[in-house]
Amino acid sequence: NAIVPFYGARQAGIVTPQQERLMFAAFDVSTTDVEELKRMLGRWAAMAARMTQGKQVSDSPTKPAQPPFDTGEAMDLGAHSLTITVGFGPSLFDDRFGLADRMPPELTAFGTIPGDAVMRAELSDGDLCVQACADDPQVVFHAIRNLARAARGTATLRWSQLGFGRASSTGSQQVTPRNLMGFKDGTRNVRADDTATLDAHVWVGANGASLAPEHEWMRGGSYLVARKIRMEIESWDTDPLEDQEKIFARFKDTGAPLTGGDEFTAPDYAKLGDNGQPVIDIDAHIRLASPEQNNGLTILRRGYNYTDGQDPATGKLAAGLFFIAYQRDPQTQFKVLQTRLGKSDLLNEYIAHIGGGLWGCPPGVSAPGDWFGKSLF
Ligand code: HEM
Repeated sequence: NAIVPFYGARQAGIVTPQQERLMFAAFDVSTTDVEELKRMLGRWAAMAARMTQGKQVSDSPTKPAQPPFDTGEAMDLGAHSLTITVGFGPSLFDDRFGLADRMPPELTAFGTIPGDAVMRAELSDGDLCVQACADDPQVVFHAIRNLARAARGTATLRWSQLGFGRASSTGSQQVTPRNLMGFKDGTRNVRADDTATLDAHVWVGANGASLAPEHEWMRGGSYLVARKIRMEIESWDTDPLEDQEKIFARFKDTGAPLTGGDEFTAPDYAKLGDNGQPVIDIDAHIRLASPEQNNGLTILRRGYNYTDGQDPATGKLAAGLFFIAYQRDPQTQFKVLQTRLGKSDLLNEYIAHIGGGLWGCPPGVSAPGDWFGKSLF
């Protein structure tokens, strides 16, 4: 029952070896008083510092005539590696709080890019986001529930998502899990110990990169892109194995590329088959997404499998991938990659992006008294 340190230069939950469970929540700020918003972010940091150590949100004794400070359902569970990661969406920087000039250009909303056309407003965006990850489902639910409760009067829950199993790997020792299409997912992801790659592609302002003074608050942070990607499970399940493997250009059982070797062998994009065509299809997901085919473009993936049960409208299973990626500049990373994937990825026949958003996650909370994004205000 491990504990992940809360205080530090960077927020936990980005390179932390990926936990098994997720609850993601987007909030809209309802107050127009910036001081109230700051107080709430301070309250969130104090609560997160406690909950991530497996403690209740407060140790003050509750009087019998008061509702308890903590809702209680995680009381005996321990921390289960809980991490709480907070981000700020583009909408927070409108004129309500006087923050307009503090919005980095990296945080500009994408508009509609290929593949994103059917994103639903009620499952998208939000002034704030909270990603809670842990190895226990009740621990992540408890974290979001108590933060939402502490936000009452200041911010309201806009939408949320539970993820029930990790669909990526960020720790070098972790076994690659499978997504709901049954394929190993996370094989070629960035690992926590690969600090050179993280500095180059994930952390804002690393390697002494210059930032405008009004955007310094993001130095040491990272930008989070989320996509709720519905899988067309019923039609996928009728697709022949060889077509499924063509789409990812990997073998379903071992995860090895179709060009040979084991799971971690580098794919050979140039190799031709007996028919004279590339073994890795021109529109295969891993070709279109790979750094080799995108001038080195790299993102850190940290997605989760999700299901909302059955879709009452169609009777089909409502399930897919809650995609999460971290990067230093979403305009030149996710947006560019998704534009390419959205146009021609073979996978598109079986998926639909139905929600998501973009948030800037500031650096870590340094010590008691500090809070999420303090230097932004
Ligand atoms: C690789 C599945 C959406 C970016 C992979 C792999 C699988 C996979 C099975 C190969 C194993 C690996 O290296 O991790 C899926 C599924 C998706 C999805 C099922 C949707 C439901 C996306 C999206 C993006 C993305 C939206 C980014 C815009 C990548 C990248 C790689 C990858 C960068 C690594 C490519 C490489 O270096 O070889 N994905 N993916 N994927 N995917 Fe996806």
